[in-house]
Amino acid sequence: MKSFEELRKEIENFQIENADALEAFRLQFLSKKSEIQSMFNEIRNIPPEERKQFGQLINEIKDFANKRFDEFKSTYDNRANAQSAVADITRPDTNVSLGAMHPISIMMDQVRRIFEDIGFSTVTGPDIEDDWHVFTALNFAEEHPARDMQDTFFIELHPDILLRTHTSSLQVRTMEAQQPPIRVICPGRVFRNEAITSRAHCIFHQVEGLYIAENVSFADMKQTLLYFSQRMFGPDVKIRLRPSYFPFTEPSAEMDISCYICGGEGCNLCKHTGWVEILGCGMVDPNVLENCGIDSKKYSGFAFGLGIERMTMLKYKTNDIRLYFENDVRFLEQFKSATK
Ligand code: DAH
Repeated sequence: MKSFEELRKEIENFQIENADALEAFRLQFLSKKSEIQSMFNEIRNIPPEERKQFGQLINEIKDFANKRFDEFKSTYDNRANAQSAVADITRPDTNVSLGAMHPISIMMDQVRRIFEDIGFSTVTGPDIEDDWHVFTALNFAEEHPARDMQDTFFIELHPDILLRTHTSSLQVRTMEAQQPPIRVICPGRVFRNEAITSRAHCIFHQVEGLYIAENVSFADMKQTLLYFSQRMFGPDVKIRLRPSYFPFTEPSAEMDISCYICGGEGCNLCKHTGWVEILGCGMVDPNVLENCGIDSKKYSGFAFGLGIERMTMLKYKTNDIRLYFENDVRFLEQFKSATK
């Protein structure tokens, strides 16, 4: 039989690094078949006068072994818990940066929603167009400067194919496809052969509007555009129409809104005139209706086209169109709150 001293040393020096070692410790020192238990069985062979002291010593050793076991077990349990915490792949990342809509998309959506509320539906069409839909059907004269290579991107191998210079091509496509009443809004990307500066870009976005039915008047157009302007820029905004010229409308006008920054007093944004131009519009020329298969004696209507970049620059007070195409996150991040 081992001496008490030997047994105590063994318990003290036992290394426990894993669950198996812990179990080995338990079997060796604390189970029914352990050395300590067999010492208890020895008691009856000890002379009666020494039994009490012997019993005390075994109990001390047993308490010591129990204490060691509890210590090892709690250290081991803590370590196991710590390890499983590291491996917890379901823990959410608190630092996720969410994206936001591009300011141009935000503005296109806003314009579209306002017109959808008064019964317009949205139509889209091809960026790569033909001469008929962009120019000829819209009453552009043969020698119109827009047909010049300096203004329009043509495809060299095919003189009839070009990148659309305005969304007015969608008026033609819509009227060719359906009879009045027509109430559509057409957002899209357009292309012009222009040098890129802070005010102009070779790519930009427009929203086109078209309303054709019986007895549509210039007053209907004016009221519709006033409604749009006040929802977009605020209830106090006024509009004014200045005579202008477009081949596809007669009469034609440019529309200004009263400057929503200074309220018409004059400031940098409106160049001290009190007004800012936001769109072109007019009554659809009867030639255009006929070109698209619509009876111009029965139907009339109005159309308008607005530049999204210009509207966005006015609304968010930015002065360089290139910012909208560079995709610099420091610029785009500022529109996060406008997305909602
Ligand atoms: N298409 C014209 C442009 O790009 C804008 C425009 C003016 C559209 C008058 C229209 C309109 O529908 O009636 O400058």
